[in-house]
Amino acid sequence: MPTTNMGAHYAQLVEKYGDLVYLDAFGQPILILGTHEIAVDLLDKRSSKYSDRAISPIVQLGGFDWVVVFIRYGPLWRRHRRAFHRFFNPNAVKQFRPIQRDHIGHFLTNLLSTPDDFSEHIRHLFTATIMRITYGLNIAEEDEDYATIAEEALSAFSDLLVPGKYLVELFPSLRKIPAWFPGAQFKRDAAEGKKAVYRIRDTPWERTLKLIREGTAEPSITTAMLDRIPTLPAQEASDEEELTKYITAAVYGGGADTTLATIHALFMLMAKYPEVQEKAHAELDKVVGPNRLPDFSDETALPYISAIAKECIRWHTVVPLGIPHKLTEDDEYRGYFIPKGTVVVANIWHYSHDERHYHNPHEFIPERFLKNGQLDPDVLDPTNFAFGYGRRICPGRHFAEGSLFLIAASVLHTLSVSPPVDENGVPMDIDCGVVSGVIAYPEPFKCTIKPRAPWAEALILASSHQDAGTKENL
Ligand code: HEM
Repeated sequence: MPTTNMGAHYAQLVEKYGDLVYLDAFGQPILILGTHEIAVDLLDKRSSKYSDRAISPIVQLGGFDWVVVFIRYGPLWRRHRRAFHRFFNPNAVKQFRPIQRDHIGHFLTNLLSTPDDFSEHIRHLFTATIMRITYGLNIAEEDEDYATIAEEALSAFSDLLVPGKYLVELFPSLRKIPAWFPGAQFKRDAAEGKKAVYRIRDTPWERTLKLIREGTAEPSITTAMLDRIPTLPAQEASDEEELTKYITAAVYGGGADTTLATIHALFMLMAKYPEVQEKAHAELDKVVGPNRLPDFSDETALPYISAIAKECIRWHTVVPLGIPHKLTEDDEYRGYFIPKGTVVVANIWHYSHDERHYHNPHEFIPERFLKNGQLDPDVLDPTNFAFGYGRRICPGRHFAEGSLFLIAASVLHTLSVSPPVDENGVPMDIDCGVVSGVIAYPEPFKCTIKPRAPWAEALILASSHQDAGTKENL
């Protein structure tokens, strides 16, 4: 099983063998779904059978077993999803908008003062926003370096869980061999990963509990969930507290690096495609103008910006193989028998590059989503597959889409992004490499970031003085 460029590799298998590829990995049946339409047929329309997860020994060894993404289909998983739904349904996510706006303002200011550090600023933006929403923490005032803690945990997640990376996934009995034994690298990697994973789960949580005890905690998802606890019987109260701890940590785990990788791709693509950027600037000048920053309410009037956000989601597939589902009952599809226990892979990378839907799929062409200047409902929207399928579909998708739109609009309205220059001032090419893993990150790259005009610089400086206010509805 390949451990890099997995999406492209599985796409080749589909080209060679057909739309349903069935593999037997030492007794573990794996089914690769060749098209988005088949994924809809099975994972969406038959979701009552296709919503379990295959839990590899690495999940337990790496300390991920409390994260909703790895909880088996059943009552506990439903409790986690309900909690997510309470805060991340399309209406509920609106309560986070003041905080998102505030942090985007700080992000633009940081880009203005130290543009070469754009990558750190992007991570800081997501860490600060999520820590504020989930725990009420203002990371600028905290001693802990939450961005680094989070980066270590997410890198452990993305590296350790690459399907087929370790033999122990196929031979679970290997988990019993001691860590010092030759060939037990997985044990040493997993033990390191587990420390990082527990650090991101426990550090902000304990800090928030301390602030709650002292009566100085800001309203957040944590305080909103814990508010109910005094009214509950002892066992339920303890379960609810544990649920709160796990949900809040999963928000960072699920939400930060996925969205962050897409924003990195936005910067890379803007530097590579100046003509796209010019069109975006023209639309923003017409609709938003020089006296304010864009807002969520501008979305329908900014179809080109929405098309750029969609094309970023499509062009840079953040979760190339999705998170595989597992079938809980025998099934039959197009005359084929699919046994219970089969691990089912939706190759999101392949669907993003499907020429039946997207001509020149390796090119960045936002216009593909537009017709007569408006979003074209006949083109397959990448948000229909990028967030997965069925009952396991990403619960953070509404929040993610909102973030991507507002960040793209705000950056494009105020800044111009161009390729890096060499020592003679000559623009250099950007190599669009990808660091493969469960999450695909653009390889580190450089770009030049400048304010578009004096009015844009003034807008950025003014935005950093505004304050988010409080989240009244939490
Ligand atoms: C560009 C941004 C994002 C992308 C591309 C993305 C993609 C995905 C995908 C492909 C899955 C697997 C779905 C399946 O099994 O079929 C998933 C699951 C998940 N995502 Fe996201 N996601 C993003 C942002 C977020 C955000 C912002 C959050 C949290 C607020 C989040 C939380 C989760 C969680 C908790 C799961 C596990 C769901 C389950 O197993 O039931 N994600 N995401």
